[in-house]
Order: sequence, then structure tokens, then C-alpha cells
Amino acid sequence: NQTKESPEKKAAGLYAASLVKDGDAVGLGTGSTVAYTIKELGRRVREENLNIVGVVTSYQSEMIAIEAGVPLTSLAETPKLDIAIDGADQFDSNLFAIKGGGAAHTREKIVSMSADRFVVVSDPGKKSEILTVAVPIEVMPFGRELVTKSLKDLGGEPVLRAAAKKDGPVITDNGNFVIDCTFGEIKTPQELAAKISQIPGVVEHGIFMNVDEVVIGKTDGTIEIIKL
Ligand code: A5P
Repeated sequence: NQTKESPEKKAAGLYAASLVKDGDAVGLGTGSTVAYTIKELGRRVREENLNIVGVVTSYQSEMIAIEAGVPLTSLAETPKLDIAIDGADQFDSNLFAIKGGGAAHTREKIVSMSADRFVVVSDPGKKSEILTVAVPIEVMPFGRELVTKSLKDLGGEPVLRAAAKKDGPVITDNGNFVIDCTFGEIKTPQELAAKISQIPGVVEHGIFMNVDEVVIGKTDGTIEIIKL
């Protein structure tokens, strides 16, 4: 989904880049929407002498940032970030979000929790009254069977994510598997999140409870901002 131009994602991505200020340390999320942000930040670095450092959440965002010319650092060097910007797969009216469609949610959660402000960039299709999409769960390969059984016990329908151009499962940037687990309507995301976190072998689930605001891009290039 990196190749197809989307005016909605572009509007959201560009607006989020305008929130970044001189001197900021910025968390750079993963996916096709935040890719617009990263490229725009590169443009601002080149053309406006914007002085920033970025922390990436995946090999994908690292490659885009290097290509765009965004100076990078690590959380080891810069543990506190001013702002993190990232996409999402779905978010609800309380700004609880599900992420991990690109299998990058563990690093995305660490990076976004390291930031003072977490901005999600989105197209209108990801807004939902209630969360319904499958929850991506990064799992240590050693714990796959126990995690699968435990997710079923929680009423979920777990499916090991298969790789698109490789036989066998997706391997994350951290060397783990991803299980996508459908739970129907997720009425109490915090409760579900706590239960999934308790399962041994779960590295991280894709339920995010730290979103400060969502920027929704529209086809005409305008944006809508949702804050709590
Ligand atoms: C990556 O694992 C995800 O959390 C992405 O942030 C999410 O899938 C958003 O992707 P798009 O911006 O490509 O829709």
C-alpha cells in the first residue's frame, strides 16, 4: 500500500508534519500515511533548515527517513521524544486504537509511549464507533501454542499471520510471529488489553490507549482533528 497515492492519507500526513517544531525529537511511525509525514519532514529539513531528530519504528520507516534525509537517533540516545506520529488500522470514539497491520506495533508502542504527544494520522475509513478489526499480537515463536489457546479461551479467533511473498509466517522486525485475533465488537479495550498482556509469550498487542489526537485527512485535502 506504499505505492498508491492517497489524497486523504497525504492530507493527514502533511498536516502532522506541520506540528513538528524546530528542535523536536520525533517518533516516526510505520505505514503508508505516516510515510507522507516522514517525506515532508525531510523536505522541511532540507528547505527550511528544520533541526530535528527522528526515532524510527521499523526498517520501513528507517528506509523512508534515510531517503528523505531526516536525521535519526535512537531511544538509547534520546529516550524522551517531543511528539510521535503514526498511522492506525482503526480507532474508536474514545481514541482507543488498533495498530499493527504492518506488524510494527511493538516498536510503535514503545516509541509513542516515549513521546509527550502522540498524534495518529488517518483516512476517514478507520473511524469506528466501536473497535472491530482483528488485534495484531506479536508473539515469541516459542509461545505460539500457549498464546493461541489462551486467546481462544478469551473468546477470540486467532490466526497466525502468513507472509505474502514467503512460505510460512510473517517474521517481525524483532524476529517474532504475529497472531491476528478477532474478538467481534471490543466494548472494553482496556480490559481486553490487560488480559492479553498477561499471557506468557505475548510480546505486545496492538491495542493503543495513549492516542492524544487523530488527524483525519479528506479527499479535498482538508483535515479534521479529533481530540478528547
Ligand atoms: C503498522 O504496524 C501499523 O500500526 C500502521 O501504523 C497501520 O497499519 C497504518 O498503516 P497505513 O497508514 O498504511 O494505513
